[in-house]
Amino acid sequence: MCGIVGFVGQEQAAPILLDGLEKLEYRGYDSAGIAVLSESKGLQVKKAKGRLQVLRGLTGDGRDVEGTLGIGHTRWATHGEPSDLNSHPHLSSGHRIAVVHNGIIENYVEIREFLQSQGIPFQSETDTEVVAQLLEYYYDRCGDIMASVYRVLARIEGAYALGILCRDLPDAFIAARKDAPLLLGYGQGCSFIASDVTAIIKHTREVAYMEDGEVALVKAGGIQVFNAMGQPVEKEHHTVDWDVSAAEKGGFPHFMLKEIMEQPEAVRKTVSPRLKDGRVHFEELKLTAEDIRSFSRFFIVACGSSYHVGMVGKYNLERLLRRPVDVMLASEFRYADPLVDEHTLVIFISQSGETLDTMAALRRAKALGARTLAIVNVVGSSIAREADQVLYTWAGPEIAVATTKAYSTQLVLLDMLGLFFAQALGSVEEEEYARIVSELQALPAKMETVLADTERIKYLASRYFNHSSIFFIGRNLDYALGLEGSLKLKEISYIHSEAYAAGELKHGTISLIEKGTLVVALCCYAPLFEKSVSNIVEVKARGADILAVTTESLAAELGKTAENVLPVPDTHLLLQPSLGVLPLQIFAYYVALQRGCDIDKPRNLAKSVTVE
Ligand code: AGP
Repeated sequence: MCGIVGFVGQEQAAPILLDGLEKLEYRGYDSAGIAVLSESKGLQVKKAKGRLQVLRGLTGDGRDVEGTLGIGHTRWATHGEPSDLNSHPHLSSGHRIAVVHNGIIENYVEIREFLQSQGIPFQSETDTEVVAQLLEYYYDRCGDIMASVYRVLARIEGAYALGILCRDLPDAFIAARKDAPLLLGYGQGCSFIASDVTAIIKHTREVAYMEDGEVALVKAGGIQVFNAMGQPVEKEHHTVDWDVSAAEKGGFPHFMLKEIMEQPEAVRKTVSPRLKDGRVHFEELKLTAEDIRSFSRFFIVACGSSYHVGMVGKYNLERLLRRPVDVMLASEFRYADPLVDEHTLVIFISQSGETLDTMAALRRAKALGARTLAIVNVVGSSIAREADQVLYTWAGPEIAVATTKAYSTQLVLLDMLGLFFAQALGSVEEEEYARIVSELQALPAKMETVLADTERIKYLASRYFNHSSIFFIGRNLDYALGLEGSLKLKEISYIHSEAYAAGELKHGTISLIEKGTLVVALCCYAPLFEKSVSNIVEVKARGADILAVTTESLAAELGKTAENVLPVPDTHLLLQPSLGVLPLQIFAYYVALQRGCDIDKPRNLAKSVTVE
């Protein structure tokens, strides 16, 4: 997720663009840039790796860049690591067109190859640069910038919110969107575009929301909007009544709730570009089928919630690959004497890509001769750079300390990696492979149905937020799920909580269960449903209250035993944790809210733990 902003009016554009980008930094902050057009200076592009401060320093806080028409961008890298060259705006090779972009151009490789075959040089590793170069390619041939925009939009695939400056268009810039947010701002004698209202709320609260396929010609005196067929459309104007801080969170009270709600979209962005013709493709992976077959065992190494993803991954990958998969805490792995060698693949999972324990474990694995692969959210982060291979979860920046959307995108990416490896090993039947792929594609919509109605979870949180100790129990994948549910609750509500393998409870810990103890029972793993129900009976007999999470097809049966049942849609067995985790995140959120905790910045915690 990146932030884009555009301005045209009577005032100097650069300071307004920089202020707007500052409000959008939560959407991405690894590099930033502006492009400003002026009669005397032409098309000026200033951009740099690093936080916005660097760009401010480069431009004298915008004072050194002349012009009243410009676009700006703050980046969350997906294709091409953070660098000056990869930052936006991207210039066409003839320096006549500058582009800022939020989204992913899925077919950028083929377009870049075509343009390079036409002798057009590329500067960056990004997908976005193909938009600038293709625009100029068409513009050279037709001389009409709006017609060129339409031809480009017809050619590119993927998601985009675009701001486009053309040197030959001195009084306007162009905007276009598909599957990425972009709004139009109507000021007094000036006009704006922005990824969200945060960037422009200081100047205007009158906005219109662009629809997919629309193109806008933005001038100081007004904005003309056209549909995908080039016909003019009238846009409904809205008046925004948010305050600025609420706007940064897209109207949500906390980043955590916003990121919980972003999960379907984050999963969709992580999955769909990697599914083609019903097969999993990882263009970014340099592993041959022979390499994959050479791995005699796998390790998954991580910390915290990323480790919990690894716990799910152990069950799923062993089932898919029929090869040993161990999962270890990075802080343990780094000081252990793990049985790894050149036939071992060690998978490191990390949202931040900077967790010191995980980084140390990575270095230890490499020293032992293992092959390494990282699943990371922050492009160009240390772990991403040091692993032999890296797969990115395109979850966008995750601001809340308690991870949600990164966890969910890690889960699905690990499941997809399992399918990809299984294909090379021939260890999964075709129809099973197809079933999992089909359910992967259906997952975001199923996640949306769970997130659409949280009232019951909110009510349950109001009943249990004063408890001093809460247990999560489950078997197999449900146990792995319970670990994550328990950590979410602990992290943000400060209530003591334990996750336990349900079958293990009777070996001691059940002595802690007494009248009124809340036990969250995970019963999503259908093959052990009956066993899980008997564990519920076990703790109920000792006075426990039950909050159970299960699938829709098992909910009625479970309701005979558990008084509070939260159903989630049925999906493939391996993917069930991706749905089961949602009520647990929501429950933790509303318990913490009831307790007045600092949800986005819980005490004692940091978003990235870069210490031992
Ligand atoms: C998760 O909600 C916590 N913030 C924490 O456990 C986190 O998962 C852990 O520190 C690992 O972080 P990483 O994924 O960035 O490596």
